[in-house]
Amino acid sequence: MPALDVYFYGKKIGKLTEKNSRLSFKYNENADTPLSVNLPLQKEAFNDKLTRSFFNNLLPEEGIREAVARYKQVSSNNPFALLKEIGGECAGAVELYPEGEEREEEESSLTPISEDKIAELLKNQAQIPLLTGEEIRLSLAGAQQKIALAIIPDDSNNYYLAKGSYISTHIIKPQNPYFKDIIYNEHFCMSLAKLMGLPTATSSIRDFGGEKGYVVKRFDREIDASSTSGLKRIHQEDFCQALCLPDKKYQKEGGASIKQCYKFIANTDFSRKADALRIFLKAIVFNFIIGNSDAHGKNFSFLHRGGKYELSPLYDLVSTGVYTVLSPNLAMSIGGEYNPNLIHRSHFETMARDLEIKPTMIDKIIDETASKIQEVLPELDKQFAAAGYKSELIKQIKELIATRIKQLS
Ligand SMILES: Nc1ncnc2c1ncn2[C@@H]1O[C@H](COP(=O)(O)OP(=O)(O)O)[C@@H](O)[C@H]1O
Ligand SMILES: [Mg+2]
Repeated sequence: MPALDVYFYGKKIGKLTEKNSRLSFKYNENADTPLSVNLPLQKEAFNDKLTRSFFNNLLPEEGIREAVARYKQVSSNNPFALLKEIGGECAGAVELYPEGEEREEEESSLTPISEDKIAELLKNQAQIPLLTGEEIRLSLAGAQQKIALAIIPDDSNNYYLAKGSYISTHIIKPQNPYFKDIIYNEHFCMSLAKLMGLPTATSSIRDFGGEKGYVVKRFDREIDASSTSGLKRIHQEDFCQALCLPDKKYQKEGGASIKQCYKFIANTDFSRKADALRIFLKAIVFNFIIGNSDAHGKNFSFLHRGGKYELSPLYDLVSTGVYTVLSPNLAMSIGGEYNPNLIHRSHFETMARDLEIKPTMIDKIIDETASKIQEVLPELDKQFAAAGYKSELIKQIKELIATRIKQLS
């Protein structure tokens, strides 16, 4: 039976197998930390549904998945074959290797890469996605093109393509011809959230030999002086993994809802739970106001730390509402409504009742979020002007923000 060795925090702890297109995962006897809330430590193998919901969610989606499948000559609906090809460096602390294949130690790994080479990788993403052309097995979710590199230190131009047991510190997304200035859009929305004090991954725009990219620092990687690479992995799961939704991210098709995510946090062993719940609600309000309709279950994650969970910093914050080619509908309905143009404060109050929280609590979050956004926008404008980022799109985002705030008044 074909198998992949599953490594967790660098240690081989189990096997992923496939038989008749059904996946199964089994821990080795040495495993001492669960991979997922849905994969507790046990002797028995896990069934296809539980196994698939964790492992399939590690893979890229839509066009990226198709392109990987094409490049590697496997089927895009075959998660086992895809993970065999690219499941090395994943989200969180998991790595997969073909059974028996030696996993190289991290010390062998950091190879400098030039900015011109990065530009080439970014330009060729449509044909050669992720790092498939570099003999590097990188798997990240999402439908946007991306690569992951090590940048050490963070604010330097020291870029590394780490071979062997690859460990990256940053994710880089190129411009997208179909979504104008999307890298500025994402950097703007992420910076806005950060300026408001929401826990948010740190982003920037960088120029790689003339090719601009959106760069975000990975919150699932940390400096670790005791390891040979100087880095360590922190485990993370997304809410589709947590809610056992292997291939559904939109609520309309059976994907995660606000209530399911909220209840999951409320009923699971989260540290600083009240803060986590409040930040989640703030993120829902923030996403509505900036016009982010794509805040689905894979765009929220939590970290595993010391046997407990904590909400991850926010990521993938994009004002999708400024792109008329995209559906305006929200990934998760608010108070039963998917169309953001029809949403008012009363929908948030309905949502609050559904979550069994006081409507006055959500009212307060709406008021605070709206006034904080207005307070920090001039500062963000200053930052963008100082960096020389001029984009008509940013103006449109700000107009959309003003419209959404008006809807909530
Ligand atoms: N800053 C980050 N740190 C760690 N993991 C991240 C970070 N940003 C994104 N990810 C992981 O990578 C995946 C894809 O990133 P995302 O920005 O959502 O891409 P896309 O725009 O293609 O959806 C996410 O679902 C998450 O698992
Ligand atoms: Mg995403």
